[in-house]
Amino acid sequence: MLLTDKVAVIYGGGGAIGGAVARSFAREGARVFLAGRTLARLEAVAADIRAAGGRVDIAALDALDEDTVNRHADAIAASAGRIDISLNAIGLMHVQGPPLAELSLADFTLPISGYTRSNFITAKAAARHMTPQHAGVILTLSTPGARMTGQGFLGYGVTCAAIEGFSRLLAGELGGNGIRVICLRPDAIPEAQPHSHARQVFQGFADRFGTTVDAMLAERGRSGTLLQRFPTLGEVADYAAFVASDRGSAMTGAIANLTCGSLVD
Ligand SMILES: NC(=O)c1ccc[n+]([C@@H]2O[C@H](COP(=O)([O-])OP(=O)(O)OC[C@H]3O[C@@H](n4cnc5c(N)ncnc54)[C@H](OP(=O)(O)O)[C@@H]3O)[C@@H](O)[C@H]2O)c1
Repeated sequence: MLLTDKVAVIYGGGGAIGGAVARSFAREGARVFLAGRTLARLEAVAADIRAAGGRVDIAALDALDEDTVNRHADAIAASAGRIDISLNAIGLMHVQGPPLAELSLADFTLPISGYTRSNFITAKAAARHMTPQHAGVILTLSTPGARMTGQGFLGYGVTCAAIEGFSRLLAGELGGNGIRVICLRPDAIPEAQPHSHARQVFQGFADRFGTTVDAMLAERGRSGTLLQRFPTLGEVADYAAFVASDRGSAMTGAIANLTCGSLVD
């Protein structure tokens, strides 16, 4: 197994990506701590993990609140002895679709401030415990919007560019402490949509072009990627488990392109 006895904390652990990564980490032997605002969502993922024989704990918290995240990280370190892996997989509702003239300042800045704030808080909380261990892996999430241009995703595109830049710089801050930082960059994941906040986000685009979210993603996946499809949750989760494991120990400061070729580095 890739992650035997590793201790992982996943913010947004009840979500589509956070939940898939949690199941993968647990399958690979990690003890996982899931955090999010709604206990019922976390409990659903935890039930799957327990049924498969995995070890999991859940906690309701707001990953935008620094004191709460710090207390939670301290509690994990106290009970499990360490924190080896931290993933921020929260999803914040925001507006996509409107062009600049119709985009308010508040809608532009909301995802930028929310995602950068939360990633700062969770990464700093993890680094406090990883530094004395001289080991640890911090994972962040982005999308190809970080490197694309176009209309209708100004706020979220800047957000993703910021998260990628943050991850790169964080790797420089923490490399000397033995801590690796990798940003996972999947494109849209169709199977995540039924429950993800992303469905409502994509609805803004679909409305604009007079189509449905499913039809829009099917067409973009077919014609806009080298593999003629978008990634699956399993692919993203299994890659996360590999890169967080000691088998990925030479990688830091990297953006993992999991787009199926919608964007070529
Ligand atoms: N889905 C995709 O196709 C896709 C593709 C590429 C990248 N991404 C990125 O990956 C991330 C996760 O996406 P997803 O599809 O997994 O989203 P999701 O299914 O909506 O899950 C996000 C989770 O974050 C939790 N959350 C939201 N605000 C929070 C807060 N303040 N504190 C703690 N937890 C919070 C939510 O639970 P509560 O509301 O209960 O807290 C939810 O369980 C997002 O940044 C997204 O942009 C998604």
